[in-house]
Amino acid sequence: MTRVEPAAALVGDIAVPAVKGICQRGALLAAIADGESELRNFGHAADTDSALAAVAALGAEVAEPELGTVRIGGRGLRGLVPPATPIDCGNAGTVLRLLSGILAGQDGRFELVGDESLSSRPVRVDVPLRQMGARVETNEGRPPVTIEGARLQPIRYELPVASAQLKSAVLLAGLLAEDGPTTVVERTPSRDHTERLLRSLGLQLTRAGMEIRVWPAERIPPFSLDIPGDFSSAAPFVVAATLLSGSNLRIHDVDVNPTRTGLLDVLGRMGGRIAVFNRRSSNGEPVADLEVRSAPLLATAIEAEEVPRLVDELPLFALLASQARGESVVKGAQELRVKETDRIETVTNSLRALGVRISASDDGFRIRGVPTRPRGGAMASSGDHRLAMLGAVAGAVSKEGVEIEDAEAVAVSFPGFFELLESVTQR
Ligand code: S3P
Repeated sequence: MTRVEPAAALVGDIAVPAVKGICQRGALLAAIADGESELRNFGHAADTDSALAAVAALGAEVAEPELGTVRIGGRGLRGLVPPATPIDCGNAGTVLRLLSGILAGQDGRFELVGDESLSSRPVRVDVPLRQMGARVETNEGRPPVTIEGARLQPIRYELPVASAQLKSAVLLAGLLAEDGPTTVVERTPSRDHTERLLRSLGLQLTRAGMEIRVWPAERIPPFSLDIPGDFSSAAPFVVAATLLSGSNLRIHDVDVNPTRTGLLDVLGRMGGRIAVFNRRSSNGEPVADLEVRSAPLLATAIEAEEVPRLVDELPLFALLASQARGESVVKGAQELRVKETDRIETVTNSLRALGVRISASDDGFRIRGVPTRPRGGAMASSGDHRLAMLGAVAGAVSKEGVEIEDAEAVAVSFPGFFELLESVTQR
């Protein structure tokens, strides 16, 4: 049990761990590059360490000459070696799905497994990877996944759901296809870290409207990446500082890729006061510093088209909305049901237990906001890192504090989260 007491304000300057999805993508691509790549400011967490362990199991040499600088000896485009035991992706959907795309074009038979949560989530990549020619078996669409690599055929694939993981798996397999471009068609744009990374490596990838096209690679050159802070890890601080009057918090070196920063737009129309400054770019990703001050908020609605741009921040949005005058609603977010937990259920149940007036629908939630602190109480993370962080922010903005069961789940993406929160909390 971890307890977070009510706070008066968040004040200070912080930096948050590196973008989880770029650490994972960098590790996976480095493993099939020709030579040694370097990932700087690598953010160790359970999910990113799963990516390192996976590429090591596949024969890539992983070294860390100094903490946060990870060097990976790539084995070349088709040089990964099937390990004797299954590859454990832990809690990380990104590792399971993106790695499947790469393994589909390797020689040999590979098995991918995950923890209990990942084992209950849909694999989805099996469908397009089979169309490309790989033999893929699952447990009725769920992990474990067994992949027998093949000479892949390019395909044109229309995404059935807005999923960056599914999109990325097909694009990575497209790099390994025999001849001709592979096309992925999105209905709603999702995060584009994979596209930006492939282009920054000089690989051929184009986007026209909703169609993304990638050409087979001859080789992937070794690369070095400086990985900025993860907007999703900054988000709990953005929300807490917005809600606690008198806050003034700066968060430095945050990736502000517009496919990830939907929360800033939503906060903008609710009345939030967030300044984005010092804009620059790093390996094709926009980076900036954020300054957050507290502000009174008004209710808002979030519809399906906006969901992918803040999908991992919707739990925090529910808490924000509970403090915003009026009724807020989230629609078209059925993807939340297949995240690390069914986040429509877990968010509704935990916030309701803390005194928030929230109800669940099939594809989102509805929240009655009043600008007074929620009571507080106890909630469980259910092993979901985003729920554990939601509980902590709820504790800080509550009247009585919040006790979080299984708060250690934060280590999936952000091991030092509670210490960092404490370091900027004024009581
Ligand atoms: C991710 C994409 C999103 C997101 C997840 C990370 C990625 O998942 O929820 O936390 O790294 O591409 P989906 O692609 O399944 O929506």
